[in-house]
Amino acid sequence: MALSQFLDALNALESSAVRAFGAAADEPALESARVEFLGAKSGQLKSVQKGLGALASADKPLAGKRFHEVKAAIEGAFQSAKDRLASLADEEASTDDGGPLDPTLPGTPFTLGRLHPITQTIEELTEIMGRLGFSLADGPEIEDEWHNFEALNIPFDHPARDPLDNFYVAAATLGEKPLLLRSQTSTVQIRVMEAAKPPIRVISLGRVYRPDEVDATHYPMFHQVEGLWVDRRVTMADLKSTLRLFATSYLGRDVHIRFRPSFFPFTEPSVEVDFQWGDGWVEFGGAGMVDPAVLTAVGYDAEEVTGFAFGLGIERLCMRRHQITDIRELFRNDVRFLRQF
Ligand code: DAH
Repeated sequence: MALSQFLDALNALESSAVRAFGAAADEPALESARVEFLGAKSGQLKSVQKGLGALASADKPLAGKRFHEVKAAIEGAFQSAKDRLASLADEEASTDDGGPLDPTLPGTPFTLGRLHPITQTIEELTEIMGRLGFSLADGPEIEDEWHNFEALNIPFDHPARDPLDNFYVAAATLGEKPLLLRSQTSTVQIRVMEAAKPPIRVISLGRVYRPDEVDATHYPMFHQVEGLWVDRRVTMADLKSTLRLFATSYLGRDVHIRFRPSFFPFTEPSVEVDFQWGDGWVEFGGAGMVDPAVLTAVGYDAEEVTGFAFGLGIERLCMRRHQITDIRELFRNDVRFLRQF
């Protein structure tokens, strides 16, 4: 074979290989170009190489040199085509946000929470009593025996103080005063009166704790709304009209309310408060005229001022309003239930 013939074939091969690799638009195209030009068995470079042996010995050094140049050029073209496709793939991956914006696709749903029915009830009761001139007071859920019992005229040997009927806090060790989870919001009456002089007109709404067996109407944690009005000449008639207004504002005009004589250590006289529910009556809490012993315990002059107080169960009010028949529903936290309010 003539040298010029060999060199022409090399040049033609170089340019067609460089063109093919430059045009390869994806991996399969690149691979078939690689097989065509660089394939170890029947690639074009291989077959041109075979012509090398047929040249005159004197031509071989030049032909060999040229062959290696062309081989390097073709391999280089292959490598840069490979790099080009790889960086193209990287770019696509990093900018792939689902492609161009499609405004017809459904949006990401945005779920809005809502207030728990008990929280809703608390807010509404606060609003109703606010209109009647009662401002909001607060007290701790972990209490001492003075505020939960003693100042409320509940003596040391009273059955309400039985450790089995209360959640005492074990951390209160020897020498420290015993603490308990408050069993009633009446504690806040004492805290308010210790901190301020009459006239007093407050409500307090919050959690109380009792180790009750759980059933449809009992739960070891529940909420009470406590009211207290202390001033000159506050009477039982004020108590009655306030509670009636309270009941009809929250439950509706046609709700009947009933007082039954009862006993609480911190009120005298005391009543139990029933609201009509269906054909019958259900107890919602207690009330009465603040016992002079309580007024004295907080440093008030029991000859000067009188007061009424009441404490009602918030769960029961909420259940009566929404026809909920099992208190446990309120604390199961099943959204299918909670979503209804
Ligand atoms: N603290 C009482 C209870 O938990 C309810 C109560 C009764 C509250 C009479 C009062 C009251 O303020 O005057 O059962």
